[in-house]
Amino acid sequence: MKSKIKEIEEQALGEISSSAAERDSLEAMRVKYLGRKGIITELFKKMGDLSASERPEAGRLINILKETVTRSLEEKISSITAYEVEEKDKIDITLPGIRGRIGKPHPISETIDEICNIFVSLGFKVVEGPEIETEYYNFETLNIPLEHPSRDAFDTFYLKNDSNQKFLLRSHTSPVQARFMEKNTPPFSIVVPGKVFRPDATDASHSFMFHQVEGLAVGDNIRFSDLKGVLANFTKQMFGKNTKTRFKPSFFPFTEPSAEVDISCIICRGQGPVASGQKCSVCGGKGWLEILGAGMVNPKVFEKVGYNPEKVTGFAFGMGVERIAMLKHGINNIRLFFENDVRFLRQF
Ligand code: PHE
Repeated sequence: MKSKIKEIEEQALGEISSSAAERDSLEAMRVKYLGRKGIITELFKKMGDLSASERPEAGRLINILKETVTRSLEEKISSITAYEVEEKDKIDITLPGIRGRIGKPHPISETIDEICNIFVSLGFKVVEGPEIETEYYNFETLNIPLEHPSRDAFDTFYLKNDSNQKFLLRSHTSPVQARFMEKNTPPFSIVVPGKVFRPDATDASHSFMFHQVEGLAVGDNIRFSDLKGVLANFTKQMFGKNTKTRFKPSFFPFTEPSAEVDISCIICRGQGPVASGQKCSVCGGKGWLEILGAGMVNPKVFEKVGYNPEKVTGFAFGMGVERIAMLKHGINNIRLFFENDVRFLRQF
């Protein structure tokens, strides 16, 4: 009996280890040895033929054999399971791929680029300045003295201040004018894109944060006609070659004379009343849309930065980017730009 058991053990372990690592062949192996009519099961049955003294020892040995064979089968099965899990995790390189979404610039960034590129084509250089400004650059250098009522026009977010400097969030990009002039000698022409901040209540056309593009050209004999030519060229490139430009007298402390610049309405083409007899909803029937402020640099500003106003002249302008983007794309609510709703942003 003992040698029979030994023989069966060797045979079973040999067959299991050389059998294919497949569930079917291992199941066949289990049936062959441990099944109801399996070789080992039969051994247990044959114990009845043994004498009472031989039986306990034989039972012990057959039990050990059963355990050994069972363990060997289990080991082989668990190796299959590990292999199957590994296979499942493998990437099937023959499947068609999933194309990742490609990001693109925000419509405001795109509009800023478009504006700046036009001015670059006209010889302007792009410059930037800080969003946190001092009162000095946001107001003083721009001929907006303390207590002057025109400060109210640039309602401003003030920040925690230290003793001698008053810090604020710039309310326009014009402070970069003085910052640039202090460090450079004319002639030059620059455009300055950037964020500006005003404590306005948010509605469809106001946001406490928006973007401007400032322009500044300073040189020997820069005239108002240069300003008109540059801006007329810009509006044609930006809004189409049939766009008309109109200058209206205005006031800014840092330019003299100052102008507000309109373009012919890009929706009704300056017609005002539309075909149906109703007023154009974009220009309100006026036929014109105001898009920027401009003027000749005030000599007082040149004095502040140490330029001689007898020697140099210049023009400056500033425009709101959101307003231009809204006009170009027919958007009626400024808040859409900042809500980050991809359903809106994907349309550009
Ligand atoms: N800074 C002005 C504003 O924010 C715009 C402007 C810039 C006007 C430059 C004239 C010259 O309203």
